[in-house]
Amino acid sequence: MADIKTQKHDAIVLSSQSEKDLQLKFIEMLKQAPLPEDELLANLGLFLSSKSLSRILFFYEIYRKIINTHGVVMEFGVRWGQTLSLLSALRGIFEPFNRHRKIIGFDTFAGFKGMSDKDGKLCKTTDGSFSVSENYQQYLGEILALQEALNPISHLKKFELVQGDATETVPAYLKRQPETLVSLAIFDFDIYQPTKVALEAIKPHLFKGSVLVFDELADDIFPGETIALREVFDVTNLKVERMPMTARVSYVVL
Ligand SMILES: C[S@@+](CC[C@H](N)C(=O)[O-])C[C@H]1O[C@@H](n2cnc3c(N)ncnc32)[C@H](O)[C@@H]1O
Repeated sequence: MADIKTQKHDAIVLSSQSEKDLQLKFIEMLKQAPLPEDELLANLGLFLSSKSLSRILFFYEIYRKIINTHGVVMEFGVRWGQTLSLLSALRGIFEPFNRHRKIIGFDTFAGFKGMSDKDGKLCKTTDGSFSVSENYQQYLGEILALQEALNPISHLKKFELVQGDATETVPAYLKRQPETLVSLAIFDFDIYQPTKVALEAIKPHLFKGSVLVFDELADDIFPGETIALREVFDVTNLKVERMPMTARVSYVVL
C-alpha cells in the first residue's frame, strides 16, 4: 500500500506508476510554462486532465441541482479546498446575488481525526493522514476571498472555514446557527466517526430536495463512510445515484 501514498502528507493516490510518471511530466510542464503571467489563469485548461475535469463536471451538474433550492452548501472534509473554490466559482456563475448561499467547509486542517475499527484495514491511514501545509487555512481563506471579490456583492462574506474536529465543530456550528438549512452537503472526511456525527447533526437541517454528495460510498478502501450513512439513514429508502464521468462520487437527492 506504501506505493499508493503521497510522500509528504500520507494521502492516497490510486494512479498506476506510468500514470504517475506522466503526471510528473505534466507538473514539470506547469512549472516551466512559457506563458506570460497575465495569461496564466485564463489558460489553466492546458493542465486539466480528464480525471481533474471529470470532478469539475460532476460538481457543475450537482450545483445545477441546487439552484432552485434554498440553503447553504457544506463540505465535510476540505483539505486543499479545490472543491470549495470551485463551488464559489459556480455560485458566481449561477447565482451571484444569492447572499444566502453560504459555503461552509469543515476540516481539522491537520488531517484525519478519529479513525476507528470501522474504517477497516485496507486504507492503512492513521490520524494525521491527509494533512496540509502549515497555516494552509489562512491561504485558502485568501483564495476564497479572491473568488468572492471577482463576483458581485463581494462586500458580504459568504464562506466560512471551520477548523477543528468535526465531531465537535459541526454540532457546535448548527447550535450557533439554528437558522441553517442545508441545500448541499458534500461528505469527504473519508472516515466513519466524523461522517456519522456530521450526518446526525445536519439531518434536522435537511429538507425534501437537499442534495447529499458522497466521495467514498461503497468504497472498500474507506468503508466507514457507507457504514455511517447506513446507521443514520435507511438506505433502502434512498436512491444512490452516480454520473457517468466519475467512478467514485455518488449523490442522493432527498
Ligand atoms: C480526502 S480529504 C478531503 C478532500 C476535499 N474534499 C477535496 O475536494 O479535495 C479528507 C479531509 O477530511 C479531514 N478530516 C478527517 N477527519 C476529520 C475530523 N474528525 N474533523 C475534521 N476534518 C477531518 C482531513 O483533514 C482531510 O482534509
